[in-house]
Amino acid sequence: MTAVRLAGGPLADEIKAGVRARFERIRAKGIVPGLAIVTVGEPPGGNPYVRSKCRAAEELGAHAAVRRLPATASEREVRATLEELSEHPAYHGIILQLPLPAALDEDRHLEDIDPEKDVDGIHPVNVGRWVSGLSAHRPATPAGIVELLRRHVGDLAGKRVCIVGRSRIVGRPLSVFLSERAPGMNATVTLCHSATRDLAAVTREAEILIVAMGQPRAIGAEHVRQGAVVVDVGIHAIENPPAGGPRFEGDVDYEPVSRVASAVTPVPGGVGPLTVAVLLRNLADAAEAAAERA
Ligand SMILES: NC(=O)c1ccc[n+]([C@@H]2O[C@H](COP(=O)([O-])OP(=O)(O)OC[C@H]3O[C@@H](n4cnc5c(N)ncnc54)[C@H](OP(=O)(O)O)[C@@H]3O)[C@@H](O)[C@H]2O)c1
Repeated sequence: MTAVRLAGGPLADEIKAGVRARFERIRAKGIVPGLAIVTVGEPPGGNPYVRSKCRAAEELGAHAAVRRLPATASEREVRATLEELSEHPAYHGIILQLPLPAALDEDRHLEDIDPEKDVDGIHPVNVGRWVSGLSAHRPATPAGIVELLRRHVGDLAGKRVCIVGRSRIVGRPLSVFLSERAPGMNATVTLCHSATRDLAAVTREAEILIVAMGQPRAIGAEHVRQGAVVVDVGIHAIENPPAGGPRFEGDVDYEPVSRVASAVTPVPGGVGPLTVAVLLRNLADAAEAAAERA
């Protein structure tokens, strides 16, 4: 079997087209959708993820700004920046770029963001709302994966899904969304982490395997059930890539896995484009809500 290459680009383009139209309607009311990204201790060459979010926002008609704080920024400075942006009428979405330097407490600073502007969907208010099945900003990567699976697999009811990784931005929210009592969802979800025993035995049970473990090529053919759909969230830059060869790899060893699976997302070009598209859709939601309140 050679797996289908499950690219995220076509769905991401559709989502972005919808966002572009929504941004145009918001601009017609005299409001420019605004995204602010706060970085603490960004490397001198900049952060490619921050650049790509800003570029995509601007391409679709939003305004994007980066507030760069030094790695030595105090808790008070970070809080003041997030509170100022939360009050600022020009910004409808705020991203605190994680991870923060070890001296800062991520949980504490996420609460410094106005939940309405938390387009990453990880403020405790938003987490509480989406866990309860209420409307809220939802984290972009898992929300995009759900849409990709719905499109490729169809109804997920009763499907055996295994997720490797329980991060707050990918694995844990994905486990909540897929097991939700909601049309198209109702999957049976297993959530694995570093204390999981005999990982391959668990992952081989899955009809859908989603890997967000941050370990290059950790998942091989031995982890995959024949015919499974495999979603690779991991992304790692290859040091000294061969001339003309790949510059990134995922958590999944693509070639051997694609001989067992029925579909595999590539890296790059799988989950990554969806993340940015859904993030900007969250920004459209936030800007529309602000326009209605104005
Ligand atoms: N394409 C995108 O848009 C996108 C978005 C977000 C993240 N990513 C990428 O996705 C990857 C994961 O990132 P993340 O932030 O979700 O997770 P993360 O914070 O890096 O955490 C990794 C998770 O994997 C688990 N894990 C690590 N080694 C394991 C092992 N040997 N067996 C089982 N579980 C293991 C960890 O378990 P413990 O909890 O027990 O430590 C943890 O839950 C990274 O490569 C990241 O760059 C990509």
